[in-house]
Amino acid sequence: MAGRDRASGRVSVAVYADAEALASAVATAVAEEARRSVEVRGRFAVALAGGATPRRAYELLAEPPLLGVVPWQGVQVFWTDERCVEESDPRSNERMAREALVDRVPIPPDRIHPIRCGADQEGKRGADAPGAEQVARRSAAEYDALLRRLFQGGDHTVSSGLLHHTGSAGRFHHAGSAGTALDLALLGVGTDGHTASLFPDSEVIHERRRWAAPVFGHAVPGPGATAGGEGLWRVTLTVPFINMAASVLFVASGAEKASIVAEVLEGPPDADRLPVRLIRPPTGTVRWFLDGSAATLLSK
Ligand code: 6PG
Repeated sequence: MAGRDRASGRVSVAVYADAEALASAVATAVAEEARRSVEVRGRFAVALAGGATPRRAYELLAEPPLLGVVPWQGVQVFWTDERCVEESDPRSNERMAREALVDRVPIPPDRIHPIRCGADQEGKRGADAPGAEQVARRSAAEYDALLRRLFQGGDHTVSSGLLHHTGSAGRFHHAGSAGTALDLALLGVGTDGHTASLFPDSEVIHERRRWAAPVFGHAVPGPGATAGGEGLWRVTLTVPFINMAASVLFVASGAEKASIVAEVLEGPPDADRLPVRLIRPPTGTVRWFLDGSAATLLSK
């Protein structure tokens, strides 16, 4: 249950008692949105956040009662971003979401669209392998092409009767919304104001054309992490693509997020330093789901 709930314009903020209540609220909101989207649009195209925060919500979606609420056959799964490591690496966002959710529910395999940037065609694997940058660049270009094929038209194999068809192309189409885009982008936020892999002061935050792009960014602790916390190649959805989404849901948990949450929601409009503030879908809704610890520095 929300301890506090407030809304201004299309941005709403809901605060839950603790991390478990937050996870439950996020999972319920996603399930409800999936049900409604499949009913109205014939499909639910969702981009899943990586990081640690959403894991529990993913687990709850894969368990009764929410397991039975989501029309899984109509779900199309994307990732907001990926760290360019092997799929088996504990730092892999694909691995986390598969373990917690995707591999535990009946989503048809051809509707699961991971970003694969941890291996090159010569079999060299991992962020430290020669060619990691090239692999990230190629993978981003391929993901961009995949998104354009699925959202702009032409791929009947993935639309197979579940999607609204527009003209001759079997593309995704938002009945009743301005564009063809994600139904939901689920996003986390970093203590530096990044979201997805859109890091402060990185070129990628100014991307206007591509829908997926490579970026060299933060390292994540774990096996295979480079010494000294050196960064990692990643692939991320870009600001223009995320901003076409019908709905964006940010989730933040824990005291270490309190200061960035307050700055993003109540601070001066300094979007370039805080990439999370660039996410403002002109026709979509934005919801922030917080636990009490992440909300402690909010004014009300
Ligand atoms: C990633 C992300 C990233 C994440 C935030 C929050 O791959 O690192 O997708 O944007 O959501 O860094 O991460 P936590 O949930 O682990 O705090």
